[in-house]
Amino acid sequence: MNFEAIRLDREGAIAVITVDRPEKRNALNTVVRREILTALDNLRNDSDARVVVFTGAGDRAFIAGADIDEFADRTVDEQRKAMSGRRVFDQIANFPKPTIAMINGYALGGGCELALACDIRIAADSAKLGQPEINLAIIPGGGGTQRLTRLCGSGQAMRLILSGEIIDAAEAMRIGLVDLTFSAEDLRGRTLEFAGRIAEKSPIALEMAKAAIQSAQEMPLSDGMRRETELFLTCFASDHKTEGISAFLEKRQPRFGTQ
Ligand code: COA
Repeated sequence: MNFEAIRLDREGAIAVITVDRPEKRNALNTVVRREILTALDNLRNDSDARVVVFTGAGDRAFIAGADIDEFADRTVDEQRKAMSGRRVFDQIANFPKPTIAMINGYALGGGCELALACDIRIAADSAKLGQPEINLAIIPGGGGTQRLTRLCGSGQAMRLILSGEIIDAAEAMRIGLVDLTFSAEDLRGRTLEFAGRIAEKSPIALEMAKAAIQSAQEMPLSDGMRRETELFLTCFASDHKTEGISAFLEKRQPRFGTQ
């Protein structure tokens, strides 16, 4: 597929979506958002793509936020329209396959929100993260107030969103905003290695595990427990469970195709 502002590459079963505007620190404009939606639509039905990794081009930024130039002159109605319809962060959060943010530099504003919409965040130790919208007299509008609060608690969300403070990867790791850190040189190799290990698992079990964990954010515990049982039984009904258990008993590696 031909894209203007992103790249979609394959590393075996891993799809890597790279926002490719390094001269603008990979700021998210309308074209980037539209192209990410197209790439995800493509990958959703591609059974060979098992894990999706998001990153930014160049060595400065993951994504430095929404494109400020683009919304500078928008009216409220125009902005409301831009924020309606299919929203890219929700599409990422609800994507049925595992998603990883490979944070190679600044992840600010919408960049931090995109990372928050992913299942796992892996950062270079040189990365910087934050929600600096308050400096523009606005607030996060792509789920930052909601997902950051659920992930790190309201105290840390208040701290970052009210102050606009930008933190380094070690601090982000300490508050639970990132899950793994590697040196900048190792980031890509180690992230793809980790993603590759996930890609070998049953896609059905991955989808059910992801849905079950997401339920914990959305449901009371008793409802979440019932949902977990349902999703467990969906795995139990699949050929993949037969293959997984047979492979264990036969002391061989399982092979999970599509069902
Ligand atoms: N939207 C639009 N353009 C952006 C951008 C954004 N979010 N972030 C960076 N850019 C552009 C700059 O305007 C500059 O463009 P120019 O060369 O045409 O002047 C170019 O990217 C390089 O930016 P620069 O600030 O020179 O790079 P840097 O490496 O010194 O600093 C940042 C990087 C990310 C710290 C800095 O660009 C920044 O603070 N960006 C805005 C972050 C932000 O507030 N995001 C939330 C938006 S709601």
